[in-house]
Amino acid sequence: MEAIQQVVIKTVQNASETQHLRDLACASNAMFDSGEVESTGEPCLEGTQRHLLQTIQDWVESPTGEVIFWLDGVAGTGKTSVALTVANALNGRQCFVEDRGSTLDHTKMFFTTIARGLVKVFPDLRTQIVSAAEKNLEIDTKAPQQQLERLIFEPLSVLDKPTFIPARLVVVVDALDECKNPKEVDDLIGMLSALENLHQVQLRVLITSRGDDHIHKSFERLNKRNSRSRETTIYRRSPLNKILSRAEGYGEVDDTMKYLHYALGKIADKHGVLRGWIGQDRIAKLSQKADGLFIYAATMCRFLDSHDFDIEEAREERLDHIFGDVIEMESSPQ
Ligand SMILES: Nc1ncnc2c1ncn2[C@@H]1O[C@H](COP(=O)(O)OP(=O)(O)OP(=O)(O)O)[C@@H](O)[C@H]1O
Ligand SMILES: [Mg+2]
Repeated sequence: MEAIQQVVIKTVQNASETQHLRDLACASNAMFDSGEVESTGEPCLEGTQRHLLQTIQDWVESPTGEVIFWLDGVAGTGKTSVALTVANALNGRQCFVEDRGSTLDHTKMFFTTIARGLVKVFPDLRTQIVSAAEKNLEIDTKAPQQQLERLIFEPLSVLDKPTFIPARLVVVVDALDECKNPKEVDDLIGMLSALENLHQVQLRVLITSRGDDHIHKSFERLNKRNSRSRETTIYRRSPLNKILSRAEGYGEVDDTMKYLHYALGKIADKHGVLRGWIGQDRIAKLSQKADGLFIYAATMCRFLDSHDFDIEEAREERLDHIFGDVIEMESSPQ
């Protein structure tokens, strides 16, 4: 009898725990495993961005790594692909949450979303976060600073004891530039620096963004704010520029060439055309045109992937268009 009661009590407890979590307004479409995130990008093709992914892995694994890893670059350099690859790699092994700026164009639900995500990937935190949500009803309507303290910092601090097994959680925030209010971005970056006070259970943030001026300034301010009190920097910046080609003395085959090879092969298979139709020379020429930008390579592939791809003249004509620079004219706004 007693056993049954216990089970019932436990079930009831779990149900109300879940309810408190459910009541937290959050952007579930911004979570790593949501359909929306899955449809917005592709992870890196195997073998590409090797150097960068290794650098990020080293940062994740280093107990003394910076709190924030900031990956900034112009449009189409592959930031989202890197973010998805990191999130995929962390899945199940390390703890992670993926959170996208593009569906969170303000910061009101930033920390509630992360709190919900942390509960999913780090069950040890569940009780703490649930009880924080219970004690702070309507916390999702409060200022982000309060949300960070109540829903994340305090629950993590409970576990941040020398007796607790060390853990490192990584939050991946893609496209911070989508948050259009510079003040919100500035506040957010400033708030995240408080995470450096966690030691045994660390929370780190990988942020990707375009290199907008105000984001640069916010990070610069963060360094100034902290330089007097700390010996090490609080964040690491890693600019993601164009892919450097072999001609520039970097890597064996450049990444856009690998990508074109793979993507064009897939397109040929899809249309039942022999992969060799284009030849290495012309792939290399396309790669040169892409000029180290993934977005350019991806756009060329999409342009080639037309319904009449199986007709030789049609695909050759499209290729001629690309080599003749007609693609830019066709895709530019009217
Ligand atoms: N390493 C990669 N392997 C395969 N495809 C890639 C890779 N990097 C980028 N791509 C492809 O190139 C295109 C542009 O990449 P992505 O969206 O990641 O750029 P971005 O830097 O996030 O751009 P934005 O600043 O507009 O968000 C996408 O179609 C993406 O799938
Ligand atoms: Mg992106």
